[in-house]
Amino acid sequence: MQVIIRDTKKEAIELAAAVIAHQITIKPTSVLGLATGRTMEGLYARLVEMHQQDGLDFSLAVTFNLDEYAGLPPTHKNSYRYYMNHHLFGKVNIDLRNTHLPDGMAADPEAEGARYDALIEDVGGIDLQLLSIGETGHIGFNEPLSAMFSRTRVKALTPKTIEQNSPLFDSPEDMPRFAITMGVGTILEAARCVMLVTGANKADIMARAVEGPVTSMISASALQLHPNCTVIADAAAADKLEQKDYYRWIFDHDPQWDRFR
Ligand code: GLP
Repeated sequence: MQVIIRDTKKEAIELAAAVIAHQITIKPTSVLGLATGRTMEGLYARLVEMHQQDGLDFSLAVTFNLDEYAGLPPTHKNSYRYYMNHHLFGKVNIDLRNTHLPDGMAADPEAEGARYDALIEDVGGIDLQLLSIGETGHIGFNEPLSAMFSRTRVKALTPKTIEQNSPLFDSPEDMPRFAITMGVGTILEAARCVMLVTGANKADIMARAVEGPVTSMISASALQLHPNCTVIADAAAADKLEQKDYYRWIFDHDPQWDRFR
């Protein structure tokens, strides 16, 4: 795992956007794993800008989102399909047929999970999986005690996640209690993982996920097992990391980051 600390949220987003742009530039047919949530909104806005101003081309890209709320149709404004169409897909030249999310309305969620994992496998796996972290330490909706080898399936959301996300609903009690999410095992199969973490409210969970022990109580800690994982954080989110100076030194001196500095 490599941790990169940028002073501001804007700089963290800029770097994450540059990494994604580089990925689809060197491999236009890239398979991207995508995430939702407030953290991602600025990143998608920047990618839209890169498309509009610099011609960043999404025409051949294929995407798989991490998760979807159970019971929300794509037309519901809190569904993650709606979020993705609104923040990214509707504003760049991606072919909507190449964009995938789990079907939150599936009559047989277990079969839907298996279908989703098989679809990812069929396209040759995910080249770059984008992630953020929830306050429970979840990636996707892999709440505490999600198995390290878990596959796409339904998870019950914790009270903390419901508290974190329900303000986004017109009536907080309308937030679904279940979601269908890629498993931790599904996520770890991506060739590369990039986790973007911003804001002081993430500092505690970030320190536990990155520098604490690997535990299914904090699904993001499983990323320590991934051979190619980059965590991009702003200074506020990185505040409680013990080895900040070391991480900063590596980023400043590692030639692989020359083009991004
Ligand atoms: C949701 C998503 C997670 C994401 C989290 C972060 O819960 N399922 O994948 O990590 O949001 O949310 P935010 O960026 O709003 O803090």
